Amino acid sequence: MNILILGSGGREHTFAWKIAQSPKCKKLFVAPGNSGTAGIAKNIPISVNDFDAIKVLVKEKNINMVIVGPEDPLVKGIHDFFLNDNEINEVAVIGPQKAAAQLEGSKEFAKEFLYRHNIPTAAYKSFNKENVEEGYAFLETLKPPYVLKADGLAAGKGVVILSDINEAKTELKSMLVDAKFGKASSKVVIEEFLDGIELSCFVLTDGKNYKILPTAKDYKRIGEGDTGLNTGGMGAISPVPFANESFLNKVEERIVKPTIKGLQKDNMPYKGFVFIGLIKVGDDPKVIEYNVRMGDPETEVVLPRLKNDLVDLFLATANQTLEAIDIEIDERAATTIMLVSGGYPELYEKGKIITGVETIKDSIVFHAGSQIKGDHIITSGGRVMAITSYGKTYKEAIKKSYQNIEKLHFDKINYRKDIGFDL
Ligand code: AMP
Ligand code: GLY
Repeated sequence: MNILILGSGGREHTFAWKIAQSPKCKKLFVAPGNSGTAGIAKNIPISVNDFDAIKVLVKEKNINMVIVGPEDPLVKGIHDFFLNDNEINEVAVIGPQKAAAQLEGSKEFAKEFLYRHNIPTAAYKSFNKENVEEGYAFLETLKPPYVLKADGLAAGKGVVILSDINEAKTELKSMLVDAKFGKASSKVVIEEFLDGIELSCFVLTDGKNYKILPTAKDYKRIGEGDTGLNTGGMGAISPVPFANESFLNKVEERIVKPTIKGLQKDNMPYKGFVFIGLIKVGDDPKVIEYNVRMGDPETEVVLPRLKNDLVDLFLATANQTLEAIDIEIDERAATTIMLVSGGYPELYEKGKIITGVETIKDSIVFHAGSQIKGDHIITSGGRVMAITSYGKTYKEAIKKSYQNIEKLHFDKINYRKDIGFDL
C-alpha cells in the first residue's frame, strides 16, 4: 500500500524508518518531511494543516493510509475532513477525530473527562476573564507551588508553575485578562501540585481494543539537572526503570482501561495513539495530561523497541482488529539524546552545516530540524537530531549515544549531558 506520514520532526522520521521496513509499504511519502525522511521516502512540501492540498496529494498518489504525526491537524479535524469527503473516506487515517482530539486541545475538556470517568488526576478548577477574582480566591486555598495551565494549545508553553502566591495571581491575570497566550489562555485551569516523578505511557487504540506500548521518560528542560526553560524534549529513555510490573498494572487498571471505556461511553471515535503523561506519586500513577499523538522524542525510543510490523498494527487499528495482535517488544533498552541549536528554546540561528552523520554506525540518527541543501545537511529548527542507541541497560545505551555524538558537528551545537541522571 501507499502511505503518507504528516509532519517533519524526529517522530516522523522514526515512523518513516519503521514503516519503510514493512513489506506491506509500497510507496512512502512524508509531508513536509526533513533531511532524514528524504533518504527513505519522498518528501512533499505541503503543510500538515493544508487539508485541501493533502487531499489532492492523496488522490494523485493513490495513498491508502495517512499517519498524522503532530496534534495540530488532529485538533483541527483532519480525520473528520477525510471521513466527510466521499472521494477520500476509504483512506485509513491514524489519529483521533476532532471530538477526542480535544483531550489535548483543551486542558479543561481533559480534566472533565478524567473526573467523569474517575481516573486519578490532580484536583482543579477552571476560570475565565469574568471570574478571575474567584481564581485568586481559589489560589488562596491551595498550597504552593501553584500550577496554572492555559486551556488551549500554546506550543508547549502554556503551563506555568510558581511558588509565590502573588506571582501566581499576577500570572493568572496576565493569562486571562491580558491574553498572554492569546485565545489559548481565555480559560485557565488551576491545579493541585503533584509531587513525584514523571513518565509516559503510550497506547494504540482502535476505539474498541487497545495495546500498550513500551513506557518512556523524556527530559523536558533545557538545562542539566532539569533546570531552565521547557523544551519539546531533550532526550528519552525506554523502558522506564522505576515503572515495575505492579505499577504498570495500576496504570492499566486505573488509567488505560477507564480511558478507552470513557472514549466509548462519551461516543468519541478514536483510532490512533493516546499518549498519557503520568506522574508517580508514592506508588500510585496519576494523569498529568493526555496527548492524542506519539511523543517526540519518546517515539525515537519506543518504536525502535517494537518488533511488530507497524503497518500491520495500523491496519488493525483502522479495521478495529487490534485484539488479534500480540505486541512484541525488544528486551533491550533504548535511549535518545537530542542535539539542539544553541539558544533553543529561545532565539537560535538556522542554516548551520551538519557533518559526521554518515560516520555513525552503531546508533540510529533520527533527523528532526534539518534539511538538505545542495550537498549538505543543514539545521532548520531548534531540535536538530536525535541519536538513538540500544543497550543491555539504559546506561550502556546512553554511553553509546554520547560516544557517537562526538562525531557529529554543527556550529553552536548543544545537548544535555546528563540524560538519565535521575534514575
Ligand atoms: P502539561 O502540559 O500539562 O503536561 O504540563 C507540563 C509540565 O508541567 C508537566 O510535564 C509537569 O512537569 C508539570 N505539571 C503539570 N501539571 C502538574 C501538576 N498538577 N503537578 C506538578 N507538575 C505538573
Ligand atoms: N516530548 C513531549 C511531547 O511530545 O509532548
